Amino acid sequence: MTTVLITGANRGIGLEMTRRYAAAGASVIATARHPETADALSKLAAESGRVSVLPLEVANEASVAALAKAVAGKPIDILINNAGTLGSRGGWDDPAHDLKTWTEVLATNVIGPHLVSRALVPNLKLAKQGKLAIVCSHLGSSEMAAGGILPYRASKAAAINLARNLAVELKPLGIAVVAFHPGWVQTDMGGYNAAVKVGDSAQGMIDRLAALSLATSGVFEDYSGKTFPF
Ligand SMILES: NC(=O)c1ccc[n+]([C@@H]2O[C@H](COP(=O)([O-])OP(=O)(O)OC[C@H]3O[C@@H](n4cnc5c(N)ncnc54)[C@H](OP(=O)(O)O)[C@@H]3O)[C@@H](O)[C@H]2O)c1
Repeated sequence: MTTVLITGANRGIGLEMTRRYAAAGASVIATARHPETADALSKLAAESGRVSVLPLEVANEASVAALAKAVAGKPIDILINNAGTLGSRGGWDDPAHDLKTWTEVLATNVIGPHLVSRALVPNLKLAKQGKLAIVCSHLGSSEMAAGGILPYRASKAAAINLARNLAVELKPLGIAVVAFHPGWVQTDMGGYNAAVKVGDSAQGMIDRLAALSLATSGVFEDYSGKTFPF
């Protein structure tokens, strides 16, 4: 049975991917910062019997270490670094782009995926064909820079770069890596006027992960398979 670990699974895209993987018969380790208040995820776990919920704050080394300990020795076929945060939406002079916001955004969107990936590579190695995704954003494309939302854009640019470099380093270990743009998706982050339904984004990325191989490792693509410039 395929085992998938998804971060930030209590709402939005992570919750929908959890729902769909479980419905398709996978075993899902769904992480949330606060499992005790993750009502939709707890309900899904109780109903499906295929979802186990574990606590994870991706920007906290002790929390990442506790997760690694909880899943030690267990093969993980697919790791999805989905948890992310937006910060403030303004441009260069937005006073909300202070050190605290920058630090939170970079820690969650870049450092967290690295800490989590590093901690779980042993589990991916135990799988027949380990696959690792970082949910990035086309807002992180340097070629497509349009200004605004500066900490988020910079964090996602770094997340894409992280995915590219992990693809190189993990290829000899047999682990394939993808950087995703999930689309502009109807969630708390994307807003409910966004263009893409959360189910379409989640299913698209599930399908792209099924197609991912060592030959395509390092790709930066959206939920429909459209590639983006770095
Ligand atoms: N929606 C879009 O249009 C869009 C577009 C491009 C990229 N993305 C990316 O897609 C991913 C999912 O986005 P979404 O739209 O589903 O966002 P969302 O609805 O805001 O959900 C974000 C998830 O990340 C979790 N999270 C945030 N900071 C965390 C941390 N430090 N440690 C652990 N979990 C943390 C949240 O947990 P809490 O509930 O505890 O806060 C929540 O589960 C993100 O990486 C986002 O940047 C989204």
